[in-house]
Amino acid sequence: MEANCPHLGADMSHAEIEECDTGVVAVCPWHRYDFDLRTGVSETGLKACTYAVDIRTDEKGHEDVWVETPENGSSWRLVELRPVSEEFADPPPPPDLSRLSISATGATDPDAPPETIVPTEGAPTTLMQWAVLILNTANPTLKVERTRHAVHLFRTGQLKSIGHRSTNAPRPPDVPKREESFVRNTVDPGKMGKRKNRAMMLHALANIEQWAIDLAWDIMARYGPEHPDLPPAFFSDFAKMALDESKHFSLLVSRLAALSPSTPYGSLPVHASLWESAQATFGSLRARLAIIHLVHEARGLDVNPGTIEKFRRAGDAESVDVLNVIHHDEVTHVTTGHRWFTWICARQGVDPVPTFREEVRRCWRGDVKGPFNVEDREKAGMTKDFYEDLRGEMPTDRGRH
Ligand code: FES
Repeated sequence: MEANCPHLGADMSHAEIEECDTGVVAVCPWHRYDFDLRTGVSETGLKACTYAVDIRTDEKGHEDVWVETPENGSSWRLVELRPVSEEFADPPPPPDLSRLSISATGATDPDAPPETIVPTEGAPTTLMQWAVLILNTANPTLKVERTRHAVHLFRTGQLKSIGHRSTNAPRPPDVPKREESFVRNTVDPGKMGKRKNRAMMLHALANIEQWAIDLAWDIMARYGPEHPDLPPAFFSDFAKMALDESKHFSLLVSRLAALSPSTPYGSLPVHASLWESAQATFGSLRARLAIIHLVHEARGLDVNPGTIEKFRRAGDAESVDVLNVIHHDEVTHVTTGHRWFTWICARQGVDPVPTFREEVRRCWRGDVKGPFNVEDREKAGMTKDFYEDLRGEMPTDRGRH
């Protein structure tokens, strides 16, 4: 069954499966409409798209999953294969990051009671309120925990609404909150020095993931209210991205702690260039999607294999596993960026390729650098005509990256 409910677009991967007189149905977590798993038919008159699925065993005993493609479908590619619900897949308990994070040194008031995942007063009831709360959460461990909690509430239909159409949706901060020690440690990227060893690389990557968590929440909170026509699938996609980025952050911080206990997360210099780059796009969702998701994140696809290779050569199999998970997820993030960039271009009646190139010229400085990972970029929809021979012409007084 397709992942989005045909009623208002809830993520059906968290639907309950129930047996009833007529067969087996998937019950949507949002308004509890049920859809027959075989036919997609609901008593409400709505119909979900369903595709035949078959498990076939070859002569060697290997099992393959066969999925029927929609009628007239062509050029199908598998972008992502993962358990229906990562929560159901029984992940290992989240690592205890509290003693590793910068919170111990960065607390402004050591006597203040620790903040709880759900605030004791003014608990958010909409996705927009959670997004802004998480952007204003300085402690990275709490940011991760709140992200997990908010996405769970959203997916399982426990929030009042997304809230982007409300006239009093909260505004996101211009810069997400950071702890004081983090701010003190934030330096110009040019002063970061060469990334000399694996610990420094893991630390730098974890810092980027912390900004990436914020960027996923920010795109929802900043542009949602400006675009009331954005469908629930937009929020499902970016909520998944926020959850992925928080998983990446946790994996990297744990790996860093195991590899180099003397340099826990927060102990080395960091930079904020990803956020600075995002600030140049504050006025336009289309520009945000282009610069952050289709330039920066797509660049990640180019450089990840080289980084993974460095760790492999050092014999660090655990880090290789972590980085492979991250790379795999990032292909799906560029896919998300491409999907919503083409969605907004269709809404505005413009062609995605020249529009993307125009956004890059306007909001980026310097060449869009290769060498490119053409294969993984293509998996995500980024064909060469988007990015080849492209140079940003943003004046130096506008934003930085
Ligand atoms: S029943 Fe699924 S979104 Fe309403």
